[in-house]
Amino acid sequence: MRRLIPDPGPTDLETEIEAYRPLEDPPEGRPRVAVNMVTTLDGRASLQGDTKQLGSSADTEHLLALRTRFDAVMIGGGTMRAERYGRIISRPAFREQRRRAGLEGDALAVIISGDLDLPFDAPLFTDGNGRVLIFTRKRTAPETATPVELVTIDGLIDNADVLAHLRREEGVRALLCEGGPHLFGQLVAGGLVDDLFLTITPVAIGGDAPHILEANLPEQSRFELVGLTEAEGDLFARYGMA
Ligand SMILES: NC(=O)c1ccc[n+]([C@@H]2O[C@H](COP(=O)([O-])OP(=O)(O)OC[C@H]3O[C@@H](n4cnc5c(N)ncnc54)[C@H](OP(=O)(O)O)[C@@H]3O)[C@@H](O)[C@H]2O)c1
Repeated sequence: MRRLIPDPGPTDLETEIEAYRPLEDPPEGRPRVAVNMVTTLDGRASLQGDTKQLGSSADTEHLLALRTRFDAVMIGGGTMRAERYGRIISRPAFREQRRRAGLEGDALAVIISGDLDLPFDAPLFTDGNGRVLIFTRKRTAPETATPVELVTIDGLIDNADVLAHLRREEGVRALLCEGGPHLFGQLVAGGLVDDLFLTITPVAIGGDAPHILEANLPEQSRFELVGLTEAEGDLFARYGMA
């Protein structure tokens, strides 16, 4: 891995991740929110329905390491259906590293799904470890091995309310949102993103795959590039809000 911005030169994932400390100084009343997405050169978020063929093994390693820095990881219902998540902190060494840093071994998994039409047979639910919190309009969920709690919200699920709840009720100081495009769009539209980690993978796919941000933004949202590394041909950009 090489660092291009700032201070160009050789680096490694551990050094880069260690330097990023989202748990320090969360904003008032909500967690610090980072979004991690992978994009093709033409801004697409998936290939044949999911992200498995996008990004390199370096991208997977980057995501798994990034998760160790957060209290909670959040996705939308569409991402859960497409990607069928498993245990968030799957590697024992990462859980141990988190405990040494004073965190729970498992990160809290947060899903936003109005309709709760989720794959309850996916490993996240059948594994039995960690906790899943789902913000939904529904009142009951199927029995699962992994403890699942619902936060039932009548009407529109407001992301600012979700974040305030996570901070107030769950003590979440830093949250990593892993998409997908609709949830990312809502967070940007609401001015609720602090950091954006964008992996740019050097393929163009065209067609009708979704863009990484699917929303009608009220105005342009400007980001500021704060870091850039390269590995296996993928660019790993980190942005803050301008
Ligand atoms: N490139 C990447 O990094 C990346 C990352 C993640 C996902 N993806 C891809 O993106 C695609 C899925 O896209 P998507 O836009 O459907 O994903 P998404 O944003 O994860 O899911 C949208 C769904 O989230 C729920 N949701 C979000 N905000 C809500 C709110 N305020 N109130 C109620 N429900 C809310 C709804 O779920 P319900 O329908 O369950 O009510 C909605 O249909 C898949 O192909 C996936 O592979 C790509």
